[in-house]
Amino acid sequence: MRSAKDFFTPLAVGAPMPVREIPARPSRAIHFFDPSNAKMAAKVPAMVGTVDVLLGNLEDAVKADNKIAAREGLVKIGQETDFGANTQLWTRINALDSPWCLDDLTALVPAIGHKLDVIMVPKVQGAEDIQYMDRLLAQLEAKAGLERPILLHAILETARGMVNIEEICGASPRMQGLSLGPADLAADRRMKTTRVGGGHPGYKVRSDAVKKDDGSYDFFGESAQRTVFQQDLWHYTIARMVDACAMHGIYPYYGPFGDIADVVACEDQFRNAFLLGCVGTWTLHPKQVEIAKKVFSPSAADVAHARRVVEAMGDGTGAVMLDGKMEDDASLKQCMVMVRLAEQLAANDPELAAMYADAQEK
Ligand code: GLV
Ligand code: MG
Repeated sequence: MRSAKDFFTPLAVGAPMPVREIPARPSRAIHFFDPSNAKMAAKVPAMVGTVDVLLGNLEDAVKADNKIAAREGLVKIGQETDFGANTQLWTRINALDSPWCLDDLTALVPAIGHKLDVIMVPKVQGAEDIQYMDRLLAQLEAKAGLERPILLHAILETARGMVNIEEICGASPRMQGLSLGPADLAADRRMKTTRVGGGHPGYKVRSDAVKKDDGSYDFFGESAQRTVFQQDLWHYTIARMVDACAMHGIYPYYGPFGDIADVVACEDQFRNAFLLGCVGTWTLHPKQVEIAKKVFSPSAADVAHARRVVEAMGDGTGAVMLDGKMEDDASLKQCMVMVRLAEQLAANDPELAAMYADAQEK
């Protein structure tokens, strides 16, 4: 067992001090690019400042023959690009049991470790995977003379990872967050889906059958339609992620939404995740960046309402009536979540700052 006192000492001589708190930096859109794709890589510098996180993907979706080109491409982009103050550089390395993972880390940390904010680790199964990464990164950081630790982000894409979710989140002070990996998770759980994220028309509930005059039931909806509601396949998983992350002071994210053309359903999935407590999502196409920025920034009307509650609640105790609704200490706390998020996002985004300055309740 590791003593709580040891938790915040470096795991290798000369490694940077672990962080005590994960900085709440905007990360509404984690935009994936393939560094082995020259056309895509060329667009990266122009995206700095337009997206919260640029993520050089080395894992799935990069062909085995291109793994080394992707790693080298990311090193080049990392070395040549100035990411400024408002765009973070993340990477998704290959899985811990793959033939590429060790070389990914030993190449990236010395070359661009000072620019890498977060390493996303796929297919995390338990705390032992994070502890392995924690020690290895400390050794590599010490060797590279890094002054701040690189943070870790786990993708939840196995049933074992889901069962061990709380231990994964608390396994290291480097843990920054969790993402849903719906495609791998579906396969590992043996769900009967073939999509990358999103809902499924077969996962639904139906209203009761109407009783006919002769006492039998109209199951087939001849006399009245039986309304059908599609349910969200990912509700349970995201809700568990949100609780595990909140418990450990780290951040939950939606993952990929593969149907790039269906911007409507994409927005719905992102919004469900936002409402449940996620702070951002992956984006696989520039169209999705715009959706993510809109959805994961509180609306002007919500911010205006939240501010009105904060003002009406004065010292924050007791209860007040606003528009016929009771507000108290607990609704004030919800409003504070909204106001703080708006302030934090507006600090990096003049357009949002202007929108919140003029915010009116609907
Ligand atoms: C992402 O990596 C997924 O498997 O959905
Ligand atoms: Mg995956």
